Amino acid sequence: MISLDDAFRKFRSRLELNENEKKNAIARHTEVREHINSKFKVDRDFLTGSYARYTKTKPLKDVDIFFELADSERGYRDKAPSEVIDAFYTALVEKYGHEKVSKQSRSLNVDFGVDVDSDDNTHYRILSVDVIPAFRAGDDYEIPDTASGAWIKTNPEKHATKATAANKAYSGEWKGIVRMLKYWNNNPKHGEKPVKPSFLLEVMALDCLHGGWGGRFDYEFQGLFATLATRIHDTWPDPAGLGPPVSDSMDAARKARAKTLLEAAAREVTLAINLARQGKNGQALDAWRTLFGPKFPKS
Ligand SMILES: Nc1ncnc2c1ncn2[C@@H]1O[C@H](COP(=O)(O)OP(=O)(O)OP(=O)(O)O)[C@@H](O)[C@H]1O
Ligand SMILES: [Mg+2]
Repeated sequence: MISLDDAFRKFRSRLELNENEKKNAIARHTEVREHINSKFKVDRDFLTGSYARYTKTKPLKDVDIFFELADSERGYRDKAPSEVIDAFYTALVEKYGHEKVSKQSRSLNVDFGVDVDSDDNTHYRILSVDVIPAFRAGDDYEIPDTASGAWIKTNPEKHATKATAANKAYSGEWKGIVRMLKYWNNNPKHGEKPVKPSFLLEVMALDCLHGGWGGRFDYEFQGLFATLATRIHDTWPDPAGLGPPVSDSMDAARKARAKTLLEAAAREVTLAINLARQGKNGQALDAWRTLFGPKFPKS
């Protein structure tokens, strides 16, 4: 039987980006870029968000593509955020159709209609991309936010630097743990995701995984779920100190629900640890798989 440590390492590697997935992301980026560039004057565009930081989980969906618009498009910056979102929507619908494109408060989502099998495999294809119109603002960017009706500041490089530093301080285990945690969050057994946006989990992990890697995934997750449950009601600012608090998207009811589910996860971890202590290793692996989902291996 596979050891728990090997099971976690296999789980972690299953949540890693592989070369075929990268190729597919690049192909989708190229395709979207060519279309957007035919409609808007763009200075620079790049893959960003958790995808670029290696903190995205599987199945790969909502890969973020940033479009830094040229000065000649500044007219949009003087208008309500909904104007640029509407303009990008119209442009993307022309290529992909109404069924595949949806408006979000800060981006447009393009769904490629990829199937996910019961083991969460997509045959190395990404499910969707988030297209984000942006303007340069000094060293930072401004992006539209139709939920608040304001332009908000962001800086993907600053988020990437923090994630890299956290990973280094945690003996290279931090990003893997964040991917696993986000995979737990995506487990369909919850119905709606407990924590939304899942970026909030990454932001919380910057603070809640401290003291250094203890060497055992089981104890790490026991402590982590318990700490996240205790601190889900805190206000979590943008780690770059630019945008609105990342925790703003969760109201009190959502936070209360997340707390209950995080506490339940901590209890499930304790039970799994106890099963292993009693020598019931098969049952312990089953318990971890139930907690995380089908990418947690049993062999
Ligand atoms: N409140 C915020 N203020 C500033 N920047 C933000 C804020 N929320 C998100 N961002 C930036 O926008 C990026 C994309 O947001 P998104 O919600 O897609 O998160 P993500 O990290 O890509 O996670 P996911 O894996 O869920 O896609 C984030 O990675 C972060 O760099
Ligand atoms: Mg994203």
